[in-house]
Amino acid sequence: MKRRNHAALLARLAAEYERHSPRSAAIQRDALRHLVDGGSHTIRLLQPFPPRITSAKGAYVTDEDGHRILDFWQGHYANILGHNPPVVTEVLARAFGSGTGLQTGFTDSLQVRTADLLCSRTGAERVRFTSSGSLATMYATFLSRGFTGRETVMKVGGGWHGAQPWGLVGVDFHAESAHSFEQQESKGLPHAVAEQVIVTRFNDVAMLEKLFAENGARIACFIFEPFLGSGGFLPATREFLHAARELSTKHGALLVFDEVISGFRFCAGSIARRFGVQPDLATYAKIMGGGMPVAAVAGRADVMKFAGRGGGVKFSGGTYSCHPASMLASCTMMEHLVAHEASVYPMITDLAAKARQTVESAFQAEGITARCSGRNSNAIPASSMACVHFPHDPATPCDSPDQTRNPDVCDVELSDSVLQLALLLEDVFVMHGLGAVSAAHTEEDIIRLGEACGKAAKRIRPFL
Ligand SMILES: Cc1ncc(COP(=O)(O)O)c(C=O)c1O
Repeated sequence: MKRRNHAALLARLAAEYERHSPRSAAIQRDALRHLVDGGSHTIRLLQPFPPRITSAKGAYVTDEDGHRILDFWQGHYANILGHNPPVVTEVLARAFGSGTGLQTGFTDSLQVRTADLLCSRTGAERVRFTSSGSLATMYATFLSRGFTGRETVMKVGGGWHGAQPWGLVGVDFHAESAHSFEQQESKGLPHAVAEQVIVTRFNDVAMLEKLFAENGARIACFIFEPFLGSGGFLPATREFLHAARELSTKHGALLVFDEVISGFRFCAGSIARRFGVQPDLATYAKIMGGGMPVAAVAGRADVMKFAGRGGGVKFSGGTYSCHPASMLASCTMMEHLVAHEASVYPMITDLAAKARQTVESAFQAEGITARCSGRNSNAIPASSMACVHFPHDPATPCDSPDQTRNPDVCDVELSDSVLQLALLLEDVFVMHGLGAVSAAHTEEDIIRLGEACGKAAKRIRPFL
């Protein structure tokens, strides 16, 4: 089917949204004075302007125009207990009240406790903390290259590992190119970086075998997300996880799981440990930070040793690594999730399943085929993530980024941009087609999501 052009629909929605949110529109005009595009994280700066938030609690945020917005973005999927959970905020308030929290630059016993906890829940032997997922995957790449003495990094097309050099290849789908997932995504990077990255297809064991057979001796690491996030919320299969482990070992490459999204999302620990495929290194951030900027590289002691004295890999962590307030939030969150694993995960898995079904039905009722990914796979048992795709052909399974991100296969503009704006008019916030269910969401919220999708579908239908 031909690609659709949504310019007229987007213009109509944008005009309605300006009337719906005049305060946020006015703030955007002020924001443009000094902030590039009005903010500091591209994805947050939806067009024509983002809602400006004044407060947030649980499943909801409130904006400058007084809308109470049901949020499925939840802090870039970090807020598994919802916004500002008392479990964390009360501990932080007590700490600040008693004079601790901002004494950055020293070490303490809290980071020992946090490290012990993270390692015990992920099967890692050593960990070093840093302050963002991008830094974590960059350091994991340094470590892999330093340890193996090799240059090349293999990754998955559609995989996002943050804005670090080796992660900025093969992220977006370029429909105009024969190598749709193989381009360097940023100006300013040395060309050599792109030459050092090999891009393979997610869940494609045959391609992985072929690329390892051809390039195995030069691959320092194979890094991928066991649950592909920005590529379309797609869980790795059991076969792919096992093949990745076996081929990496066979060819002397390190296996790196980027668990920035998946860590503590599907169980109180790593996918790796749950599933029994142990990577050499893994990266964590988002949920394990408890809402604060915490990230970690964790893994084999002999590899992590390269980050230490005499190891030669400059993994400094940064000024704010192991920031005391961040460590407190991180430790508190992980301890809470461990203690409540049996109740939190089944509950959010169940709600997400209802959300997927509700959204698909709401669009179907208007004659629009919507498919929600994020379902469990044979490797990942419990998923609280959901992402809507609009395949041109209803028979499309929507199970690979070559489908979900290809505008000739799925209506990507409809799921990325149109849906977001149409749902904002109903005071529902989604990102990447939907988002993550938190423990603060309720059955009523899922009903509200379904109603909002029904209204959005009614707005969209006449333009298709
Ligand atoms: C899988 C994955 N890795 C790495 C990153 C980068 O993390 P950060 O945004 O904390 O730098 C992200 C961010 O969304 C991510 O989803």
